Amino acid sequence: MGETPARGRGAVVITGASSGIGRTTALLLARRGWLVFGGVRTERDAVDLAAAAGAIGLGGLVQPLLLDVTDPEQIRAAVRAVEVGLRARDAGLAGLINNAGIVVAGPIEEVPLARLRAIFATNVIGVVAVTQAFLPLLRAGGGRIINISSVSGRIAPPFLGPYAASKFALEALSDSLRVELRPWGLRVILIEPGPIATPIWGKGEADALADRADLPADSPYAATVPRVRAMIRRAASRGLPAERVAEAILLALTAPHPRARYLLTRHRLIFALFVRLAPDGLRDLLLSRAA
Ligand SMILES: NC(=O)c1ccc[n+]([C@@H]2O[C@H](COP(=O)([O-])OP(=O)(O)OC[C@H]3O[C@@H](n4cnc5c(N)ncnc54)[C@H](OP(=O)(O)O)[C@@H]3O)[C@@H](O)[C@H]2O)c1
Repeated sequence: MGETPARGRGAVVITGASSGIGRTTALLLARRGWLVFGGVRTERDAVDLAAAAGAIGLGGLVQPLLLDVTDPEQIRAAVRAVEVGLRARDAGLAGLINNAGIVVAGPIEEVPLARLRAIFATNVIGVVAVTQAFLPLLRAGGGRIINISSVSGRIAPPFLGPYAASKFALEALSDSLRVELRPWGLRVILIEPGPIATPIWGKGEADALADRADLPADSPYAATVPRVRAMIRRAASRGLPAERVAEAILLALTAPHPRARYLLTRHRLIFALFVRLAPDGLRDLLLSRAA
């Protein structure tokens, strides 16, 4: 049975809406009456997202967009499509949710540089490219920019260096942008989830290294990597549901005075205090024991 949307809440663009947090957020926002332009990378995912929205009676509120954040032409086409969609409804753009992301894991000594470039292309440069492209519409609509970072944007665990580096970069860019956009009253908000139960940890990039597929046969990390793989699996299986992140994104979009960061993890206060106060030596010791 479909829910009746409370219409007129505004329009948002969300990247990476084919699965996990992005898809869950797209459907939650539509349920709450938002018009959602959901970025996906394949026609099949576009059809699938539209069908999922249609199945709960929200077909008109979720519009899939072909949007690979590393593809400048697709970004330009997505902006044009959103402009047309907004004009048809006489609406402004109320939010851009930069959610698309990948994981690259493994020892830094052995990470293929092409993988390192790939994660920065998606998780960092892709965010900037999409943000630059949508900023005119966000300015016109007084919209908010919500960047999906991670606890790995606050603390860099071993064997997640490439992923953590990309999220640290995202945090830095978001901090600069937040102050740069103050004159226009545009908000930039970081969401920092801990492990969330989504497909991301099982996807190719994360598994390839953890699977030792790319490690040299005589790698000094041969014994460590299976342990790290098991640790990642454990963390992922205990992850919070994606709905928790979707609710935080909704709060970030609607709170009259949103915070700069929303940390979403178990033992949030302990984590926040640890990040701020723990000396490097203690942090290294605990992280080396955990890995
Ligand atoms: N899951 C966690 O534990 C966790 C924790 C903290 C932060 N996060 C962050 O949350 C965000 C969403 O991740 P998730 O856990 O929901 O994973 P997910 O289910 O794998 O979703 C990632 C989404 O990003 C898309 N994507 C990947 N590369 C892209 C590109 N070049 N252009 C456009 N879209 C692209 C994927 O599309 P395809 O389906 O086409 O691959 C997918 O829709 C990421 O930024 C991630 O770093 C996740």
